[in-house]
Amino acid sequence: MLLLLFLILLSPLAQADSYHPPISSGYGNWSTAYEKARHFVCGLTLTEKVNLTTAVGTGQTLGYTLGIIPRLNFRGISNDDSPTGVRGTDYSSAFAPGLNLAMSWDRNLIYAQSYANGAEHKAKGINVALAPVSGPLGRSPEGGRNWEAFSPDPYLSGIAFGEAVSGMQASGAAAVGKHFILYEQEHFREVVEWNEWLAGPNITEPYSVTCDDRTFHELYLFPWYDAVHRGMAGVMCSYNQVNNTQVCQNDHLLNEVLKGELGFQGFVTSDDGSQHSGIDSALAGMDQTSPGETSPNGVDGFGESFWGPNLTLSVLNGSIPEWRLDDMVTRIMAAYYYLDQDDNYPELNFASSSLETYGYEYPKADVDWQQVNYHVDVRKNHSQIIRSVGANSAVLLKNTNNTLPLRRPKQIAIIGEDAGPSKYGPNGCEDRACVDGTVAMGWGSGTTNFPYLVDPLSAIQRRALEDGSVVQYVLDNWAIDQIGSVSSQASVCLTFINADSGEGYLEIDKNYGDRNNLTAWKRGDEMVKQVAVNCTQTVVIIHAPGPILMEEWIENPNVTAVLFAGFPGQESGNSLVDVLYGDVNPSGKLPWTVGKKRSDYSTDVLYEPNGLVPQLNFTEGLFIDYRHFDQSGIQPRFEFGYGLSYTNFSYHDIRIDEVLAPSATPSSSAASTAVNPSLCPSKSLNPSDYTFPATISSLTDYIYPYLAPSMTITTSLATPTVTIQPRTPSPQGGDPALYDVLYKVKVKVQNTGSVAGQEVSQLYLDLGNGEPVRQLRGFQKPLLKPGQTKDVTFDLRRRDVSIWDVVSQKWVEVTDLGTKIGVYVGASSRDLPLHDEISVSS
Ligand code: NOJ
Repeated sequence: MLLLLFLILLSPLAQADSYHPPISSGYGNWSTAYEKARHFVCGLTLTEKVNLTTAVGTGQTLGYTLGIIPRLNFRGISNDDSPTGVRGTDYSSAFAPGLNLAMSWDRNLIYAQSYANGAEHKAKGINVALAPVSGPLGRSPEGGRNWEAFSPDPYLSGIAFGEAVSGMQASGAAAVGKHFILYEQEHFREVVEWNEWLAGPNITEPYSVTCDDRTFHELYLFPWYDAVHRGMAGVMCSYNQVNNTQVCQNDHLLNEVLKGELGFQGFVTSDDGSQHSGIDSALAGMDQTSPGETSPNGVDGFGESFWGPNLTLSVLNGSIPEWRLDDMVTRIMAAYYYLDQDDNYPELNFASSSLETYGYEYPKADVDWQQVNYHVDVRKNHSQIIRSVGANSAVLLKNTNNTLPLRRPKQIAIIGEDAGPSKYGPNGCEDRACVDGTVAMGWGSGTTNFPYLVDPLSAIQRRALEDGSVVQYVLDNWAIDQIGSVSSQASVCLTFINADSGEGYLEIDKNYGDRNNLTAWKRGDEMVKQVAVNCTQTVVIIHAPGPILMEEWIENPNVTAVLFAGFPGQESGNSLVDVLYGDVNPSGKLPWTVGKKRSDYSTDVLYEPNGLVPQLNFTEGLFIDYRHFDQSGIQPRFEFGYGLSYTNFSYHDIRIDEVLAPSATPSSSAASTAVNPSLCPSKSLNPSDYTFPATISSLTDYIYPYLAPSMTITTSLATPTVTIQPRTPSPQGGDPALYDVLYKVKVKVQNTGSVAGQEVSQLYLDLGNGEPVRQLRGFQKPLLKPGQTKDVTFDLRRRDVSIWDVVSQKWVEVTDLGTKIGVYVGASSRDLPLHDEISVSS
């Protein structure tokens, strides 16, 4: 029976012939924002409404400016990347990406850094920050954009996603969670990119994913519940198709799941080139076309839009009901009011297309030469947060002979290109798409300009001089003689290796976003082995977007310490020194598994198209990353959740308390009740309301909402050929019962060593029913002084003890299925000294 359920696929998502747009009236704390938005929207003309849905294409911030309404003195809405800081400007910070936030397992740091990032967006005048990222989830370790996101574990990812949204929005900037959904690799995400810019052979449509409904809910959708629950204002729909329908025009995914089941209150915006239709995308639930233009990154799409004038025409001829347009704009404006952006929000003060002080207001049209960059310094004290994230996320994987922390070493050898600066400077390559010098972020749109980059060599040298250490270094991985000489003289050899990945529009060494392998780049393994021949205290420091294979040297007795540092952002060297010298006791843990070989993982990127529309079938189901290693009995090199400290911890006394929550069965998923869709009183229109006004002169490549002269309104289209059933959505985050805490698991954690430290204590559940052997469902990070014991409590919400039932389309508690729950607590997914059970009767 369960197997049967497991095999049922997502409901057929071929081009929908009926649409189910949920109409929100503002759930919970959104109600005031909705009232204001409705009032605002109902006062707009048709073309003003369309203006808010369609970016102008040639504006200052990547062209993503929407809704300038001179009549109301409304300056419009500006969108910009990114997860690591405000993209395309100066005097802003380069934060650590989602990877390091997840490695920290620290809710407070995730919130604090996200707040700081949001505050910088706001101070630069950006209303909408295109972050945080939880898609890709990280199905395959090779995935190019995994570093922008958190973890292939949906629970860790969900907690991090929720904190990041809350932190960012507390600053006043709107957070757009991206990329929704099942966008798990870079290869074949866009036709233009793959066929014309990259390697071929040609494809005709972006890749399409097939994934069973239970896996979809329990892995890939799971984190989105948390982010929506925390009030996320926007969602970006992704490039890929699902069941051969583009996500951005997928009624099931946007209308039924995101806005219906999850009760998402905000707006759905497209990615560059992820919108493939005008009418379908509007009816399926897309609310805003963020780039405005039709084609990715403007390639042959300048000035052309699926919306803009086409949306105006579609409303006039009845292809799209006006209430859908009203709903789109209400959602966009509700987000604006939800974040109080009507109250003195800073003016946009930079142009992401250039760092020059003067430039064109409309760069593609070469019009309006003026001051476009005001070089506002928005960094405040954020370097301290970044340094703290870097230090508290570093994962210590090996530490024998008490190699670390360093204690005034007599002579230090620093080896490897990754220790030093790039000869082109920290921003020398387009969107960071080169590996030269130390790597502190991946490449693509998830990057930002470094205001500076503290490389490890400078930071270590500064510290070593205080101690009177001798420092020698070799920054050329191929300088074999010099490496041999320097490493044989030193008392400790800090050896830096790296790997990189990024977004598919740029490549390094034929890595088209996704990594081609899981090994260290640039002779990394050879270099470590060479150093270890001469140096009995070889410390390996890794900067990489995910796991790398270490088998060639990890058991070498001269490799006495290994530190995985991820991509720490601008304070890279300083945060590393904090850990190497013990000013910060390492407390990061792996947010994924380090396998012994690539084939140990159950998943990989599809590198060669398997058809004109590449098909990705997620046949591994729930069993990705550690879930697969556990299921298949594969011994990893370092398991999910692993990480050492300079002290030791012990775990005692597990106790489970049932909380008297109201018994409730989460209601059925999809929005179900039909509603009256009329949002604004209808107004009579005359042609002057939608034809190009004689008073303005048209700019090249600027997307206007007015009908082009060639457009005629044919009323024959007024009878829609599709069924459109407006619905009421669920409350924000889905059924509130899913968030009831049903059990509290209490344990004692003791620091048994001699220095203070933080311990990421982890709770895993065995839910039976074909679920993974164990899955993470709780973590806490107590700080403990030497000898100190603390009580640590894990709250288990209803959703945490439930599985997705594909037949009833509900989350069902496994105890209601007659299954007792195994509860395990400890230091990693494979070091779980405490065990108890939640019985069926409880
Ligand atoms: C494409 C990327 O996929 C997305 O993450 C980003 O926000 C947009 N480009 C804008 O740069």
